[in-house]
Amino acid sequence: MNIHFNPAAIIRKKRDGERLSAKEIGYLISEYTKGNIPDYQISAFLMAAYLQGLDPEETTHLMRSMMGSGAMLDLSRVKAPRVDKHSTGGVGDKVSLILAPLIASCGVCVPMISGRGLGHTGGTLDKLESIPGFRTDLTSTEFERQLRKIGVAMIGQTVEIAPADKKIYALRDVTATVDSIPLIAASIMSKKLAEDLNGLVLDVKFGNGAFMPEYRRAKQLAQTLVQIGRRSGVKTVAVLTSMCDPLGVNVGNSLEVIEAIECLKGRGPEDLIEVTLTLGTEMLKVARIRAGAELLRENLEEGAALHKFREMIECQGGNTRIIEDYSHLPLPEHTTDVLARKTGFIYGIDSFSVGMLLIELGGGRKRKEDSIDASCGFKILKKTGARVKKGTCLSQVLADDRATAQHVAHRLEQAFSIKDRPPRHTKLVREIVK
Ligand code: URA
Repeated sequence: MNIHFNPAAIIRKKRDGERLSAKEIGYLISEYTKGNIPDYQISAFLMAAYLQGLDPEETTHLMRSMMGSGAMLDLSRVKAPRVDKHSTGGVGDKVSLILAPLIASCGVCVPMISGRGLGHTGGTLDKLESIPGFRTDLTSTEFERQLRKIGVAMIGQTVEIAPADKKIYALRDVTATVDSIPLIAASIMSKKLAEDLNGLVLDVKFGNGAFMPEYRRAKQLAQTLVQIGRRSGVKTVAVLTSMCDPLGVNVGNSLEVIEAIECLKGRGPEDLIEVTLTLGTEMLKVARIRAGAELLRENLEEGAALHKFREMIECQGGNTRIIEDYSHLPLPEHTTDVLARKTGFIYGIDSFSVGMLLIELGGGRKRKEDSIDASCGFKILKKTGARVKKGTCLSQVLADDRATAQHVAHRLEQAFSIKDRPPRHTKLVREIVK
């Protein structure tokens, strides 16, 4: 960009509630990426954007500038429609592990670039890396080759996608500007739209275990994400799903891989299947495949999705024996039961605390550079609304170290609220934004 703007003048404009042009936003982002604008000026811009907001056009300009700061995948040689799914993050959310091979088994290409755990929420990459030998660091050439061969690949951000977002996210983290809907939307979409997609389905979580707990704000985020996708010519749909309870039974990296495989064998828990099939149906609609729901059920129940999962593990160097024999996965030695302290109904589960306790157990990171223990985790055996008697087993803590497991079990028990009356029912899939 050769037009020269004054960063302070752009910041002042936003501070005073005026709209910024594509060129002004583009200038700030590209010069910041090159190191020509200091952190303190971008911090001031972020705070002005946080307080004054960005309209849909400005948010789209910001997303495009961040996306354009790095590499864009070129998957034009892949013949099938390319559709991905992104979740805003939850506890026990292993949907991607099931959905990616399931959708690929229906003839749609799924180029999935995933992240690691963020705060209390788990990350798909960490789950995949509990499979011995599984490579998440494919080069872009290997990624494309695998997509053309089997229609699915799941990797981390090996190519430099949206470096501006990486720098800006680090600043937002320390300037209290993370929870801004336009900033979150631009950040998520700058990475997803660099994947050269035809369609994108977003799982926007609400509830106490979600990144954006309040439903009204989660819906605004969903609408903003969909608008940006549409403005960029990518068919985008957002599904609002509850993260009031952890999803499924297992929480923890290799435990979630096991539950995903059970689901691919047609034996998954109801809530996990409902979310997977809802998102999957939307992905197939975006790819213009009719009769999506029946095809998905058939491919889950008759093994086509499991076969695709096996192919993916094989292509990415993982040990496929884990599918038949879970003892090839890292598994913990001890199990500690968490018992109900009284009789009544489970009124709610503090999923945020469940996510934080997994970190405490060693299954998540306190700092970015921490290594994780893939084997440990929880089984959430009773969910909100269940009637329980005093002494009923609510949950299990699985860990190698018995003392840590007992300490965590005591705190996990406090995450379950038990009352004399049942709670109001919350729909798992609340709304679809198109
Ligand atoms: N995830 C992202 O990628 N960006 C945000 O700003 C928040 C969550």
